[in-house]
Amino acid sequence: MRLAGKKALLTGAGGAMGKVFAQALAAEGCDVAGLDVAADGLGAFGEAVQAAGRQALELKTDITDFAATQDAVGEVIQTWGGLDILVNNAGGGMVRPFHEMTEQEWHRMVEVNLTSVFNVTAAVIPSMLARGGGRIVNIASIAALRGGRLVRHASGYAAAKAGVVGLTKALAIEYATSGITVNAIAPGAQQTPGRDRDTPEQREALLAQIPTRTLGRPEDLAETIVFFCLPSAAYLTGVILPQDGGHAI
Ligand SMILES: NC(=O)c1ccc[n+]([C@@H]2O[C@H](COP(=O)([O-])OP(=O)(O)OC[C@H]3O[C@@H](n4cnc5c(N)ncnc54)[C@H](O)[C@@H]3O)[C@@H](O)[C@H]2O)c1
Repeated sequence: MRLAGKKALLTGAGGAMGKVFAQALAAEGCDVAGLDVAADGLGAFGEAVQAAGRQALELKTDITDFAATQDAVGEVIQTWGGLDILVNNAGGGMVRPFHEMTEQEWHRMVEVNLTSVFNVTAAVIPSMLARGGGRIVNIASIAALRGGRLVRHASGYAAAKAGVVGLTKALAIEYATSGITVNAIAPGAQQTPGRDRDTPEQREALLAQIPTRTLGRPEDLAETIVFFCLPSAAYLTGVILPQDGGHAI
């Protein structure tokens, strides 16, 4: 167990990848607090963490709401005395031609994918500063690096995830002397349940764009998250790591 005794906070914990990330962190010895706006996936998240013999805290929270996020993160910090690891995983896209996107839809993309990262990170950083360090891993997207090449008509999502990339680099510099590393993974298309809805034609068109001709595995992303949290990764900060079968090349 390479992260024994660490306290981690994971957003989007009830989602397809969140549960896999939680499982990997718990398997390395972390207690994991999961935040999600949807209650239904949080039970499975908690079970995954407990199955690894670690403690889980499940908090139904809308992380686009600053005050609610402060309350939820405050509860975790009060329960555990602090946090060592933050994985900003919650997010989600929307497919809409740019000229058809409404003002509300634009703001929603920014709130869900970028403002949420601000809200949670702002609530966690003071605890990491008090502890003398921490690890923040942000889940961006290939969309941030390659625009809409993989998923067309996702301009709001691409712009918000590019904001996550910028924030990652800025925070890496700002907290470099405080022992806090801030890195991001930019995943390409993953083998998640949502992909099972692809028609054979859609799947073929998607794979044709990816040099390896394969989808990514959330279990492999989870290993990368763990890697960024290891003591040996202390000198890695501000890295934006595409994990995408070569798509960003
Ligand atoms: N699946 C992919 O192929 C892929 C590729 C690149 C990047 N990503 C990114 O990876 C992350 C996880 O994706 P996923 O495939 O597991 O998606 P998912 O939809 O299964 O999970 C996302 C989770 O975030 C939660 N969430 C959304 N808005 C929230 C809010 N306001 N407050 C709290 N929780 C909220 C959802 O309820 C959901 O449980 C996302 O940031 C996504 O953009 C996914």
